[in-house]
Amino acid sequence: MNKVSASQAVMTQNAAHSAPNASSLKTRSSPAGYNVAKLREDFPILRQTVNGKPLVYLDNAATTQKPTAVIDCIRRVYENDYSNVHRGVHTLSQRSTDLFEGAREKLQQFLNAKHSHEIVFVRGTTEAINLVAQSFGRSTLKEGDEILITAMEHHSNIVPWQMLCEQTGAKLKVAPIGRTGELLLDEFERLLSPRTRLVSVCHMSNALGTINPVKAIIELAHSRDIPVLLDGAQAAPHMAVDVQDLDCDFYALSGHKLYGPTGVGILYGKEKWLEAMPPYQGGGDMIRRVTFERTEYNALPFKFEAGTPNIVDAIALGTAVEYLETIGMDAIAEYENRLLQYATERALEIPQLTIVGTAERKGAILSFTLERIHPHDIGTILDHLGIAIRAGHHCAMPVMDFFGVPATARASFGLYNTFEEIDILVDGIRKVIEVFG
Ligand code: ALA
Repeated sequence: MNKVSASQAVMTQNAAHSAPNASSLKTRSSPAGYNVAKLREDFPILRQTVNGKPLVYLDNAATTQKPTAVIDCIRRVYENDYSNVHRGVHTLSQRSTDLFEGAREKLQQFLNAKHSHEIVFVRGTTEAINLVAQSFGRSTLKEGDEILITAMEHHSNIVPWQMLCEQTGAKLKVAPIGRTGELLLDEFERLLSPRTRLVSVCHMSNALGTINPVKAIIELAHSRDIPVLLDGAQAAPHMAVDVQDLDCDFYALSGHKLYGPTGVGILYGKEKWLEAMPPYQGGGDMIRRVTFERTEYNALPFKFEAGTPNIVDAIALGTAVEYLETIGMDAIAEYENRLLQYATERALEIPQLTIVGTAERKGAILSFTLERIHPHDIGTILDHLGIAIRAGHHCAMPVMDFFGVPATARASFGLYNTFEEIDILVDGIRKVIEVFG
């Protein structure tokens, strides 16, 4: 078993955070100006009871709840402005087009992309990665070329590359992780070869919470002229992301993890790559002129947006990032860091509990196992107490294999969670242990 023991985990977490056990009370405080009670009022779904208990929603890595601003936006657009985009001369079509393109600009600002045409609306992170694999990858990779990922990837950053390898004869290389769930950067560097054509890594692991040293990864890859894709599905909701500062070539994210709607997400790509890449899908809107002999493709970003897009959800995603910016991504990161620190300290009070994923740099995810109790049983009993966590392999089976567990229980925190909810979780875990004797 590669799992770390609680005492090892304490040592790692103590190294990572400035105020360990003895000063828990200090770490229970919110950063100045961060009013979580007020923020919770923005999320109507949190006001309910589940199984007779106040809902404690700790499954934010799977999906986040939606603020009223996002819900209202969807209703408002359908009631007032909705029509198809980029097609009509009539007023509603123009309004919808303006709102849709306005959302693109909001996403551009949110990621600090240089141009709004570097923002491509897709279904989510999964589609964004598949787009890069099938467009960039399929048009450039040859037999014997390599794609380098890490051992902590979500299936959506593994399977598209395996499919590409089957199509092109390229090879998938996997940089290993250590017992804390950190990437072994030296090993990663060693695997960058003259045949490496793309590096694709998660900015933050969904199963472990590890935040990867993406700047170092990008520098290592770029020094060998290798482009880098960052899977930002987990990172983007938890920290400020500046794609120009990172200098990543592609960045993928999902709207539904960013307090926005399902079914919409973003692929950011540097102009030079997107310009050079062939379209991913053919259809309406991605063309300039079609004859039966040949088709001239549209300009960026429309070249990659075939068919009627998910108009209203894209607009609402713009509203979601606007909402996040009014709180401030740095404030959210600081608050969630305190939540994670507190949750880690409290979890380690339970001797039967092992934290899976103890990297020094972690986002607000607490993956754990309990001796002799299956994570699904943990999840089921916690649900009876009104607490929503995820139990399973988290679409990261190779991570589970590495740690020698079939699954973990995972509590993942968002901007609206509270220290009191962590206390409720810890009491719930004690109850689970009691029930299983
Ligand atoms: N990828 C999502 C998760 O980690 C669904 O739960």
